[in-house]
Amino acid sequence: MVKPKVFVTRAIPQAGLVRLQDVCELTVWPDELPPPYETLRAQAAQADGLLCLLTDRIDAALIADCTRLKVISQMAVGYDNIDIAAATARGLPVGNTPGVLTETTADLAFTLLLAAARRISEGERYVRAGKWQTWIPTLLMGQDIHGATLAIIGMGRIGMAVAQRASGFNMRVIYVNPRPVEAAAARGWQRRTLEQALAEADFVSLHTPLNAATRYLINAAALARMKPTCVLVNTARGAVVDPAALYEALKDGRIAAAALDVTEPEPLPAAHPLLTLDNCLIVPHIASSSVATRNRMATMAADNLAAGLRGERLPYCANPAVYSA
Ligand code: DGY
Repeated sequence: MVKPKVFVTRAIPQAGLVRLQDVCELTVWPDELPPPYETLRAQAAQADGLLCLLTDRIDAALIADCTRLKVISQMAVGYDNIDIAAATARGLPVGNTPGVLTETTADLAFTLLLAAARRISEGERYVRAGKWQTWIPTLLMGQDIHGATLAIIGMGRIGMAVAQRASGFNMRVIYVNPRPVEAAAARGWQRRTLEQALAEADFVSLHTPLNAATRYLINAAALARMKPTCVLVNTARGAVVDPAALYEALKDGRIAAAALDVTEPEPLPAAHPLLTLDNCLIVPHIASSSVATRNRMATMAADNLAAGLRGERLPYCANPAVYSA
């Protein structure tokens, strides 16, 4: 029997690849950097299944070209890199990996919150630079976490998990969400408008998907509403924050600090102005990167792909409308 052809756009964890190697003819892009767009398009055009990452642009032109494709499976929960409308119109199911990375991502969001509040990376740089001479009464004074107000922007699974961690630190939680969230109300977490939340919060943590409504949601006007002591945490998508406005706000001390797992652009060029600021902590989009979670994401993506190749409904489908068409 001829095996279906699958293009995998990067070396994903082995846990995922082993699930596919007997049932497909696999081509795995070997480089650390993503395949160039034209290469991706050419490879996908010859494939029955595509297993991709959030760094791959899967646009309408690629989808139109790839008439042989039966399924696209993304190893991520977010899929703003994929033209979902074009895939749905073509009857092409798109898989993603919701749920498995919720707690791991919340762990990192809270790690960033703590680290930025208590100026951990500045402290570490200070020690390594040999500057630690004595105990200084005013050295690296940061923001208290206990008793502070945390605004969660986007109260989905990850937002809820971050709020839960915040409760353990005796923080007060408020949230912004298009709809009220019953489980949040049950915990006493109150809903606010974005404007109210930004003005009230000591910490703002972003958990919205990236779409037309959330692109540059945190712009100069939003930053101007925040307290000068406020700490902004972004583990959602880089483009939810306007990077130029953030740079100005951090440089002028209009907010205290930012901690970013995601940036705009991504990756952030080494010469980017944000990297000149001591009050901006940046890590390279690693929120879901624990061994267990990345393995689970890889197996979920492989299972979605295999189901699509068999013509079955994807266990985790980002465009379920494809089945009602
Ligand atoms: C996602 O899954 O969307 C994260 O950004 C990467 O884990």
